Amino acid sequence: MRTRIAIIYNEPSPSHYDILHEGEAVAGVLQAVESVHQALLSLDCQVIQVPLDLPFGRAKGKLRSLDVDLVFNLFEGFSGYPETEASVPEFLAKIGIPFTGCPAAVLRLALDKAKVKVILKAAGIPTPAFQKLSPETLHTFRLGYPCIVKPRCEDASHGLSAESVVNDFVSLERQVRFICDAYQGGALVEQFISGREFNVTVLGNSEYTVLPASEIVYSLPPGMPELLTFAAKWEPGTLYYQGTNPVCPARLNSEEQQRIAETAVAVFKLLNCQGYARVDMRMSQDGEINVIELNPNADISPTSGSVRQAEAAGMTYYQFIEKIMGLALGKKQPWTSISVS
Ligand SMILES: Nc1ncnc2c1ncn2[C@@H]1O[C@H](COP(=O)(O)OP(=O)(O)O)[C@@H](O)[C@H]1O
Ligand SMILES: [Mg+2]
Repeated sequence: MRTRIAIIYNEPSPSHYDILHEGEAVAGVLQAVESVHQALLSLDCQVIQVPLDLPFGRAKGKLRSLDVDLVFNLFEGFSGYPETEASVPEFLAKIGIPFTGCPAAVLRLALDKAKVKVILKAAGIPTPAFQKLSPETLHTFRLGYPCIVKPRCEDASHGLSAESVVNDFVSLERQVRFICDAYQGGALVEQFISGREFNVTVLGNSEYTVLPASEIVYSLPPGMPELLTFAAKWEPGTLYYQGTNPVCPARLNSEEQQRIAETAVAVFKLLNCQGYARVDMRMSQDGEINVIELNPNADISPTSGSVRQAEAAGMTYYQFIEKIMGLALGKKQPWTSISVS
């Protein structure tokens, strides 16, 4: 019998488009929906698209009435209610419908970068030293410069520009004020690690496939701090966009590859990820791999970093989607070649 799958995702709403560049993000999600849909059709599945919108009660009703074998979860939380990214898979687990990707607990945890860092640190996984700071607590600052000031609970490089990297107290105060005014969740100040930057996608439930690392190669004019700013991700034509290019597979010797893969799997296991997740890291000048953040249910649209990594491993897009589906259904998939247990 053909596998019946519902793809769930955010119903595009006008409020999304009001926010700067949020329209592009929404377009990205819709592109992922269409691409996953095509992939699942080619895998001979029966597919329906189920956009979700508030109120949550109505969304729950839609989910409860599904008659499917699997939900393919591309839902990212209702606009303005980031925690609902986790509430939906939590509900699916409650009503007993299998779904792709990570469980609710890690999706909820990853909304707070500081909480993730506390857990990594306790487990001995290197992550940059950090403090949560507000204008009221600035006097407790105890890190060395340079630091990066970023929102604690955002993604997609929101709030990040060249000014985010600070070298003195005046700039630190300016950025902490800016972030605390602009974003719920306040500011996370971290030691800035200026070394090479990598993204690594891990696939698996109990056996893990680590895809080849991708490196963000920086070619910026002197004096511009090397970080993936908002412009680098979203504003073609800017120096940051042009000067930040992914190279996959990253040029690494086998020892570096091994350490990066082991770090990625350690994070994935420690935080109880399932299915797929991407780990962002930077290598410090002395070669230490520092975990910057975890992205459970990372972007899997055809132009995403994770798909680039899958292709570098020799998978087609369809095979990648098949692997994610198989992991959710508990089926063995052919792609277990680069396994770390
Ligand atoms: N501690 C850090 N040291 C060096 N670069 C960092 C650090 N934290 C963040 N960055 C840079 O900022 C970018 C975005 O930060 P990240 O925490 O991954 O947020 P987002 O969820 O917006 O992707 C990273 O890709 C990296 O270039
Ligand atoms: Mg990131």
